[in-house]
Amino acid sequence: MELGIIAALRWQGEIGADEAIAEEPVDWTELAARPMPARRSVSAPPPAGGALPARGATATRSPESPPTGIPTTATRGSASPGAAAPGLADARSLAAAATSLTALAEALTRFDGCTLKQTAMNLVFADGNPHCRVMLVGEAPGEDEDRQGRPFVGASGRLLDRMLAAIGLDRGQVYISNILPWRPPGNRNPTPAEIALCVPFIERHIALVDPPVLVLLGAVAAKTLLDRADGITRLRGQWFDFRLAGTDRSIPTTATYHPAYLLRSPIHKRETWRDFLSIKSRLS
Ligand code: URA
Repeated sequence: MELGIIAALRWQGEIGADEAIAEEPVDWTELAARPMPARRSVSAPPPAGGALPARGATATRSPESPPTGIPTTATRGSASPGAAAPGLADARSLAAAATSLTALAEALTRFDGCTLKQTAMNLVFADGNPHCRVMLVGEAPGEDEDRQGRPFVGASGRLLDRMLAAIGLDRGQVYISNILPWRPPGNRNPTPAEIALCVPFIERHIALVDPPVLVLLGAVAAKTLLDRADGITRLRGQWFDFRLAGTDRSIPTTATYHPAYLLRSPIHKRETWRDFLSIKSRLS
């Protein structure tokens, strides 16, 4: 019996269901008869059976298959916040008030509007050199990043380091952050509401770093920050202007495939190499 329980736990870990999201276990087969504890609700209900999908599993999270309804620049800056209303005003004012990176990180530790914070072990703010040549923005921390509190330290981070090295850059010359600073439980896809709540912080983050070049890794980062409906296949390899809110300044910005996607689909490394050569030539 005990062995069976250990095997079941190991299996849950392997599929990515490695975070507790409630104070007590819930028998999902009796859900109608037993309400969830109020405090630890999450934005997206878990699928039937309670198991959370693993990042990168075909039918679940794929950095190149973002959730629908990602906010555009118009909805990010001005229009009705819709489903993300609770907490969004707070997010905007906390982010706007931060005048340094330290203050922005502190603002995120004070911000309780995003439920991802409740299940994450650590805030994953940034890594690298804020006086960088290039700022890279990914999607969200995974398990390794959540444990260490640093972005891109797992398998996709190691690939990213090799891609950067191929154009003569290392973490001392780049600065790395994510759209979401907290890991979605079990590496599930972030919801549009979670993304919308975190956008004011990453926009402020970019404005404070004010990098010479901005690189968006994967569909979620690209679609969220570029205000484009196109998929990453169309967006990658092009150059855009990322307008800094409240100014007439913009940052040359490009998008490319997410390293986690390249680990699963190495055939796209060839196009990504072209994107990195374009970044290199923009820098020189
Ligand atoms: N994937 C991301 O998008 N960000 C990380 O920090 C790690 C993996």
